[in-house]
Amino acid sequence: MVRQLDIAEKDRRLDKLHKKLHTFTDTSLYDYRVKHAYLPVPGEGSSNAQVMFIGEAPGEKEARTGRPFVGASGKQLDKLLATIGLSRENVFITSVVKDRPPKNRDPWPEEIALYGPLLLAQIGIIQPRVIATLGRYSLQYLLSRYKAPQAGQTISALHGKPIPVVEKYGNVIILPLYHPAVVLYGQKLRQALLDDFQVLKKLLRKKV
Ligand code: URA
Repeated sequence: MVRQLDIAEKDRRLDKLHKKLHTFTDTSLYDYRVKHAYLPVPGEGSSNAQVMFIGEAPGEKEARTGRPFVGASGKQLDKLLATIGLSRENVFITSVVKDRPPKNRDPWPEEIALYGPLLLAQIGIIQPRVIATLGRYSLQYLLSRYKAPQAGQTISALHGKPIPVVEKYGNVIILPLYHPAVVLYGQKLRQALLDDFQVLKKLLRKKV
């Protein structure tokens, strides 16, 4: 079992980790960042959060501000958090890829492979009880990282169903969620997200 860290130590370690993003220069996303004067988007929220939300990659507004989920999807995420009495300050929000892909294209496997270890390091510092993945990229990355038997199954089969995995610091639940952008695709997916947030609420109430 890994030593529990106090909040000041978590903040210090996260800060140091996030500065490393400025050395991620061996990727076309870096050239894109520099060309547009964008910022990397490490993530933000409580370093002591019980739940981490992990999206796919920053969009334009995120890359301009250096903050995760501050565009249209972020508005949806804020609303979903509010339905279970949470706000951005109580949770930690990030994405698996931390630089904006050109024209919001899907992240490439080599980009996920490059930024993924930084996400794993964030998880190791924050030590959340629940990891809520937003969309299929962070879900598949973490399922294969934790060698979960569900790896490769579709998000429509897995959403809202908690998946227990073991981290170095203890037991963790992965809760697969649709990406908040799906609310734009219709009422059915919006309702699925609302229902899955209720699953999250129950998981957070449970004692370990
Ligand atoms: N979508 C993501 O996956 N991450 C963000 O930060 C914004 C939109």
